[in-house]
Amino acid sequence: MLLLAIETSCDETSVAVLRDGCVLANEVSSQIKLHEEYGGVVPELASREHLRNLMPVARQALGQADVALGELNAIAATRGPGLPGALLVGLRAAQGLAFALAKPFIGIHHHEAHLYSPWIGGEPLSLSLDDFQPNVSLIVSGGHTMLVHVAAPLEHRVLGGTVDDAAGECFDKAAKLIGLPYPGGPELDRLANEGDGSAHKFPRPMMRDDSHDFSFSGLKTSVRYFIRDNPSVLEDGQRLRNLCAGVQAAIVEVLVAKTIRAAKKLGVKYVTASGGVTCNSGLRAALGAACERESFVLRLANPTLCTDNAAMVGMIAHMHLAKGTAATSLDAEIVPGWKLAESAVC
Ligand code: KG4
Ligand code: ZN
Repeated sequence: MLLLAIETSCDETSVAVLRDGCVLANEVSSQIKLHEEYGGVVPELASREHLRNLMPVARQALGQADVALGELNAIAATRGPGLPGALLVGLRAAQGLAFALAKPFIGIHHHEAHLYSPWIGGEPLSLSLDDFQPNVSLIVSGGHTMLVHVAAPLEHRVLGGTVDDAAGECFDKAAKLIGLPYPGGPELDRLANEGDGSAHKFPRPMMRDDSHDFSFSGLKTSVRYFIRDNPSVLEDGQRLRNLCAGVQAAIVEVLVAKTIRAAKKLGVKYVTASGGVTCNSGLRAALGAACERESFVLRLANPTLCTDNAAMVGMIAHMHLAKGTAATSLDAEIVPGWKLAESAVC
């Protein structure tokens, strides 16, 4: 079974080719440079860039996999959630290709793709569900932050999510206030590693709250006020690194505390994490330490699969194909606001 997968929900144009759940190619073209001067993703520019990049990226992926278009058995693409114009580019290209080849089209939920990405591993990357165990999963990226209970493969239930900003958004907005280039998360992570997170303690919103929800906009506001009241902090290298470490410590502590609490409540033995913020070194270390202390087995998404990529889209399509829940109508529309709970039927 040869499958081509397309991901264009935000600012990465990505195409992957999979053979029987094994990744032959996973090409990603990032638009970071394009959006950098605006300090965030500009939706209209993102769609146009996807239009320009999709065919070259697809050719590259097919070449890398040494697969011809005519050999493909199915085409998958992210259907939502995401930026409408960006989603349309990938979805319509995939549907056109599926129509031309007379092969099935599979519409994929972006969060569902992230959710199972911790189970993709090895060299070459492939699905490793042999040691699957019910788990609590943290999906944490620029647009989403949620906790999900995964009882069995493709049987999941959202426990809670952010009521305002996503964790990645908080990283990026705090980094912007500090004057770091877009996207600020990775740069803030780098500086935080050389700082002292206890030099200034930022609030940990909703950390002790009994729900599985998150809130990060207040934390961003307290960073804004801290900088307003201490402008010299941005002129002093060490104090700036301490500020980065303080922001990171607050975000990470909330994410880890709520994930562990949910895992205890649900009585699972495994914890997984995925999404762009799972690249964060502080989060990887703190989640690792907490899981070891509490005797949970931790599976973090491979760093190459944390940020948006088509390999995870192809893998979830492969899982749906195997379960017989995959085909999507060629007339299917994008679903920019698709909720994960509604994704069981593609
Ligand atoms: O999953 P992703 O590629 O896109 C969305 O679906 O949103 O995640 C991108 C987010 C951005 O907010 C970026 O700043 C954040 O992931 N990110 C990080 C790190 N690497 C990426 N945040 C903190 N530390 C990092 N090392
Ligand atoms: Zn994502």
